[in-house]
Parts: sequence; structure tokens; C-alpha cells
Amino acid sequence: MRFSLKRSLRWTAARLSRDGETICRLWAELYGQLAIEEAALLFRLARGKSRIVEIGSYRGKSTIMIATSAGPGSHVWAIDPHIEFAGNGVAGYSDEDQRVLEAALVANNVADRVTHWPISSRAAFARWQAALPVPDLDMVFIDGDHNYAEVLFDLMSWAPHVARGGTIACHDYTHCAGVEQAWSEVIAAHPKLWAPGASARSLIAATRL
Ligand SMILES: C[S@@+](CC[C@H](N)C(=O)[O-])C[C@H]1O[C@@H](n2cnc3c(N)ncnc32)[C@H](O)[C@@H]1O
Repeated sequence: MRFSLKRSLRWTAARLSRDGETICRLWAELYGQLAIEEAALLFRLARGKSRIVEIGSYRGKSTIMIATSAGPGSHVWAIDPHIEFAGNGVAGYSDEDQRVLEAALVANNVADRVTHWPISSRAAFARWQAALPVPDLDMVFIDGDHNYAEVLFDLMSWAPHVARGGTIACHDYTHCAGVEQAWSEVIAAHPKLWAPGASARSLIAATRL
């Protein structure tokens, strides 16, 4: 009973926020693991951003939240190899997710502003660096392999490319030790570079100073 009251309060808060109807509709329609208040925060963080990298797109819930909020003229590079994977303690990711992602991008009218790179974030970073000049980013959202070494790689590699005023965010911060440790070392330990941003449940964000 208490659980469903909490859920309904969270839902109501999300619905009453700016763009609440869109957020709630997308949240209800799309597959993924974001809680409603995390989805609402992600939507808010992406507002007004132009160049965005997402690591770990799965079936597109976070990708479409971000791309819808960022709007026309923005671009999201959605990085996910969609291979059989159990690195987050959840088995069952596979290439079927890629088919669902591609269809959801089209169905939600964001396919023109999302480029899916079906490769790992390590391979994607090598590709990104090969571009000259290497483009700055307005937002990086990390929700891929949650093992410490991989999150550390993601933060150390992508964070320096976030432009001043831009946002970096990680999901599963509160219940994946690797995410929490890497975030503490690369972001929280550098208050002259990163101002703590908003957080919602297991989503944490910071702004580049
Ligand atoms: C927790 S899911 C992402 C959920 C998604 N962000 C959402 O909100 O719906 C994690 C995803 O990370 C992907 N992944 C695993 N290892 C990866 C890597 N090295 N680089 C990029 N993505 C990876 C998996 O294929 C899986 O789809």
C-alpha cells in the first residue's frame, strides 16, 4: 500500500513538471530501467543541449527521453553494441534490443537526430577521437557496462570532452559500487571542474565549470 502511494506520488510529480505529459507518455510506452523521476530529470538535463553522447541505450528509453527533450537541431550518438552481456548483473541483453531500439527511434520521430553506433564505448571513443577537430559535447549520459573499470574508462575518456556549462550524468549510482567509486574519483573529487548537479534516485549529474 505504502509502495503504491509512493509510486503514485512520484508519477503525479513527474506529470506536473514541465513537459510532464510527454515524459509520462514516453516512460509508459518505452522499455527500460529508468524510474519515472529519473526519466523526468534526464529530460530536464537534456533540454537545450546540442551534442550528446549516450553510452548504453538498450531499447531506447533514455535515448528517446534525451532526444525528444533536446529537440530538432540536436544530435545524440547512442552507443550500444547490443551483444549478449551480463555486466550489470542482469543477463539477457542481446541483438533483439537493437531491433527494438531502431523501431522506437522511428516511432517516436527522433531517428533523424540519433545516430546509433553498435559498438562498445571503448571503440566509440576511439572513433570519436579520430575526428579532427574532436567535437565538444554538451551532455554525456553513462549507463553501459557498470563494472568499475568500464565506468572509470567512460568517465575518464568522455568527461574531458564536455564543454563548460555541459552535463555529465550516470545511472545506477546508488546501487552499483563500480559506478559510485568511479564517479567519486573522476567527478566528485574535482570540485573545481565539476559542480554537483541534480540527482534523482539512482541518477546523478554534474555540470562542467
Ligand atoms: C542498463 S542498460 C541501458 C538502459 C538504458 N540507458 C535505458 O535507460 O533504457 C545497459 C546497456 O549497456 C550496454 N552495454 C554493455 N556494455 C557496453 C559497452 N562497453 N559500451 C556501451 N554499451 C554497453 C548493454 O548492451 C545494455 O543495453
